[in-house]
Amino acid sequence: MTIQRDDVVEHFAARARTYDRSSSWCTDEALGAIVLGMAQPGADDAVLDVACGTGLVSRLFSGRVARVVGVDITADMAEQAQPYLDEFVLAPAESLPFEPDTFDVVVCRQGIQFMTLPDAVREMVRVTKPGGRIVLINLCAYGDADRDEYFEVLRLRNPVRRNFFLPDDLARLMTEAGCDEVETERYVSVEDVDAWSDNGAIGEDNREAIREVYRNASPAFQELHSVRMDGGRFVDQMLFVVARGVKPAAPAARNAPR
Ligand SMILES: C[S@@+](CC[C@H](N)C(=O)[O-])C[C@H]1O[C@@H](n2cnc3c(N)ncnc32)[C@H](O)[C@@H]1O
Repeated sequence: MTIQRDDVVEHFAARARTYDRSSSWCTDEALGAIVLGMAQPGADDAVLDVACGTGLVSRLFSGRVARVVGVDITADMAEQAQPYLDEFVLAPAESLPFEPDTFDVVVCRQGIQFMTLPDAVREMVRVTKPGGRIVLINLCAYGDADRDEYFEVLRLRNPVRRNFFLPDDLARLMTEAGCDEVETERYVSVEDVDAWSDNGAIGEDNREAIREVYRNASPAFQELHSVRMDGGRFVDQMLFVVARGVKPAAPAARNAPR
């Protein structure tokens, strides 16, 4: 099945009401602190939160910077982000309706997995000011040993996901989009798999298929994800990669006489 934009909107509209409680990482302060550390927001900065959803990332920046703008394609999600935004724009990340060099920080958490790549990342770099920071945050498989099983779990949990990542993929996307000083950090989020799969947008058949992947998981998957049982439920240590790149100064400015 080809995934259309309407499919993504329909999926997230169904999840909007309960989204903030759908994963422990949603409101994880330690993950938020890594994002802020990578973004290095200044008091005068303008921040763009791409795929802002309900504003869980926007609120990290709200009050710390001069302006926070959110972009998303799902109005039902973004309605909840309004208190943390100076402006919301309903638009796809692949075609951001902003002038080049507009934002000091562009951040996108758990968004690029639904986007056409590398177009969306190139757009994020385009609208970032020279010297500004782009921060991408996404769940990744640990490596080749767990990728097939983990990607299947992710696909079952969210059938409108287009892209699946290994840890180096985020940095590569940044570099190929022209960023300098690309750095990554890893963060492990502990998720109760049954709570995580109860997202309001998939049926019990998909949730049972996810449990079946865990029941039959390879030793490598179990070890990498430190899979354990808690009260009859699977618990998975899921890997986030946070990648930060800096938009280089324009060539003319670099070569300008001093
Ligand atoms: C998993 S949520 C992440 C929300 C938020 N960034 C967070 O970390 O909680 C993914 C969001 O991406 C949005 N989205 C998906 N595809 C998009 C696209 N092509 N352009 C803009 N937003 C998109 C969805 O509507 C949804 O709100």
